[in-house]
Amino acid sequence: MSKTDNEINPLLAAEAKIPQHIAIIMDGNGRWAQLRGKKRAAGHKSGVESVRSSVATAAKSGVKALTLFAFSSENWQRPESEVGVLMDLFMFVLTREVKRLHKNGIKFNVIGDLSKFSSKLQKMIKDSETLTAENTGMVLSIAANYGGRWDITYAAKKLAEKVARQEITAEGITEAALHEQTSLAQLPELDLLIRTGGDYRISNFLLWQAAYAELYFTDVLWPDFNEQEFIKAITVFDQRERRFGQTGEQVTNKN
Ligand code: IPE
Ligand code: IPE
Ligand code: MG
Repeated sequence: MSKTDNEINPLLAAEAKIPQHIAIIMDGNGRWAQLRGKKRAAGHKSGVESVRSSVATAAKSGVKALTLFAFSSENWQRPESEVGVLMDLFMFVLTREVKRLHKNGIKFNVIGDLSKFSSKLQKMIKDSETLTAENTGMVLSIAANYGGRWDITYAAKKLAEKVARQEITAEGITEAALHEQTSLAQLPELDLLIRTGGDYRISNFLLWQAAYAELYFTDVLWPDFNEQEFIKAITVFDQRERRFGQTGEQVTNKN
């Protein structure tokens, strides 16, 4: 893999290889709050600042796409009051931040099964996507009511519909055809998947897309994940050897 020279963020080595597409499982808000004797909601609110800082750091480091896991398809199982806090926060952030994203040339979109959200929230999402649709800067995707299994199932369903309409045959169901129907298909392949909060699992996030992503786990709780921590993750990525099934020698000789 060729090195992308980093000429943008002075905190990164000039030669650092920058992941084109980074996804983050933003975990640890509740524990962050509990450690401070606060309610879990306070952790979610503080987490918004980390979202802001991560978007800025990714954009200024030359990352092409940043995908953030905000609410999983399993998170509906939380107490109703916490789900309510998260929905309100989502709407509040959309209202306040999207104009700023637009000003910075960021293209915003939301992935997941949006049909479960209130019509007000669905409209806010649509309006934000429309506003920023023509932007050519970094693509920021928020995963909301998202599940990796849902994503793959939905893609399979769309292919089945194509077969039913006789647009393709069963032989047309290839990896590439399925990939095309999954969320984020139009973006560069996922290079780096970060999880904060100390757990070592994917929690039904980008199952299809993470096939060859480098995984980075940190104990840092999401509200404490600042620019320095983000740069640390990119630096670790830079030091990894990605072999994609080949031998180390093959990869070394190619560079
Ligand atoms: C992540 O933080 C945010 C969401 C899942 C919405 P958590 O709320 O899961 O925080 P912990 O894991 O309980 O600390
Ligand atoms: C994953 O965190 C989902 C998000 C960060 C939105 P969870 O806190 O829901 O994950 P589990 O339940 O610990 O696996
Ligand atoms: Mg959690």
